[in-house]
Amino acid sequence: MANIRLTALTIGLALGLTGAIVACSDDAADKLGGRNTPGGTSGTSGTSGGTDGDGGPGSNPGGPPAEELLFRAVETDLKQKCGNACHELATYKPTPPAFLAGPDAYKSIKAQPGAIVADYYQSVLLTKGAHAGPAVGTDPTFEGKVIEWLKLESAIIQSAKKPSTDPVALVSGPNDIDMTKAAVPGLTGVHLKFDASLVGGILSLNNIKVVAGAGTDVHVYKPKFVRVLPKPNATNQTEIPDGADTFSNTDQTVPGGAETVLNPGSALISADGWHPYDFAADKVRIEVEKLEPGKVSVLEKPKVCKDVAGFTNNVLPSMRGGGGITPNCSQCHGNGLAGLSLNGADQAVVCNQVLGKLNEADLTKSLIVTKVTVGPHNGGNVNNAAAWTAVFQNNKAVFF
Ligand code: HEC
Repeated sequence: MANIRLTALTIGLALGLTGAIVACSDDAADKLGGRNTPGGTSGTSGTSGGTDGDGGPGSNPGGPPAEELLFRAVETDLKQKCGNACHELATYKPTPPAFLAGPDAYKSIKAQPGAIVADYYQSVLLTKGAHAGPAVGTDPTFEGKVIEWLKLESAIIQSAKKPSTDPVALVSGPNDIDMTKAAVPGLTGVHLKFDASLVGGILSLNNIKVVAGAGTDVHVYKPKFVRVLPKPNATNQTEIPDGADTFSNTDQTVPGGAETVLNPGSALISADGWHPYDFAADKVRIEVEKLEPGKVSVLEKPKVCKDVAGFTNNVLPSMRGGGGITPNCSQCHGNGLAGLSLNGADQAVVCNQVLGKLNEADLTKSLIVTKVTVGPHNGGNVNNAAAWTAVFQNNKAVFF
C-alpha cells in the first residue's frame, strides 16, 4: 500500500508537467526562517562541512565530511519531494524558500535559517508539517534518513568549541581562575573564585564569585566546567563536560571592580564521568557561552518623603477630617484602601504613600488632588477644592 501512496507534491508535480499549477507552499519565501538565501551566499562551505574542519565528529579524511555524505544520501529524495518548482527553483507563487537551490543544494540548505540547528528536532524541515507540500514525516523511510543526517549536523554544532580558559589544576581550598581566555577579546581582569573540596569524591564548589576588573561591568552567561583527564579514559575521552550543566541558569551582569556571588553560589559537580575527582591528576577548564562587557542596571531608589514631621503636622490632619475638609479620607482610606493607610502608626510610611500620588512637576495634576476635585471617585469630591489643593501646594517641601 505504502508504495502507491501519492503525496500531494507528486500529484502536483504530475499535474505541473501537464501544465496545471503546482501546489507547493502556502508560505512566502521569507516565512520559513526569516530569510531567503538562494545559492547559499552566507552559509558555510558545502564541501568543508563541519564548523571548523578540525577533525571533529564529522571529519572524514580525504573526502567530504560525514554529515555531508548523509545529506548526499538523502539529496535525491529531498529534491524529488521538496525541490523542483518549490524549494529548488522557487518559481511557485508565493515564492517558497529555495533551500535546495543549485548549483549545490548542500550549500543552500546550510544557509537556510532554521534548517540545520543545534537541536535537530527543532529543524524547520521536521517541524514544518504538511503545508501546500507534504510533511517530511509522511514518508517514514525518507524522514528517517533526514533525521539521521540532521542529527549529525546537530552533534557538530554542539561540539563546536566555546570560548574557554586553559585547563587548570584545582586545589583543595581557595582557587582563583583567570578568565581572560574565555572572555571576548579585550576584556581582561575577570576572575572566577571559589573554594573547592571533595565531598565523597565529588567536586564541591563554594563561595563562587566573579571578580570583574575596575571600570567594566561584566556579563557572564552559562559557564560550563569541563573536566580534563590526564590520559584518555576507557571510552577514549580526555574531556568530560559537566553533563548536569550546573550553571545553565547563570546569566548575570556583575559590577566592575567588585566581587559578586555567581549564581548558584555553590555547586556539586556530580555529572557522569566526574566522580571521583582527583585534584592531583585532573584539570578543569571553564567554557562560557559568553563573557563580555555588560552594564549593571542601577535600580532607581524609591523616593521618600523629605520631612515626615512636617507631613504629620501640616498635611495628615486635613486627611483625617481636620481643617474643615470633608469627607474624612481616613474613614475609608484608613487601612490600605487604594494604597493609603492614613490611620497607620508609621507616618513615614503614610507620607511615602501620599508622595506616590503626587505629581512633582505640577501638584495640581496630582492624583490625590484630581481624584477628589475632578473625580470620578467612589468617595466623592471634597467640599473645598481650592483649600484641598493648597494643602499640597503649601507643603511641597514636606515631600520633595
Ligand atoms: C466613602 C469612602 C471614601 C472616602 C471617604 C474617600 N475615599 Fe478615596 N477612594 C474610595 C474608594 C472606594 C476608592 C477606590 C475606587 C475609586 O478609585 O474610586 C478610592 C480611591 C481613591 C484614590 C485613588 C487611589 C489610586 O491610587 O488609584 C485617591 C487618590 C483617593 N481615593 C483619595 C481620597 C481622598 C484624598 C479622600 C479624602 C479627601 C478620600 N479619598 C476619601 C473611597 C473613599
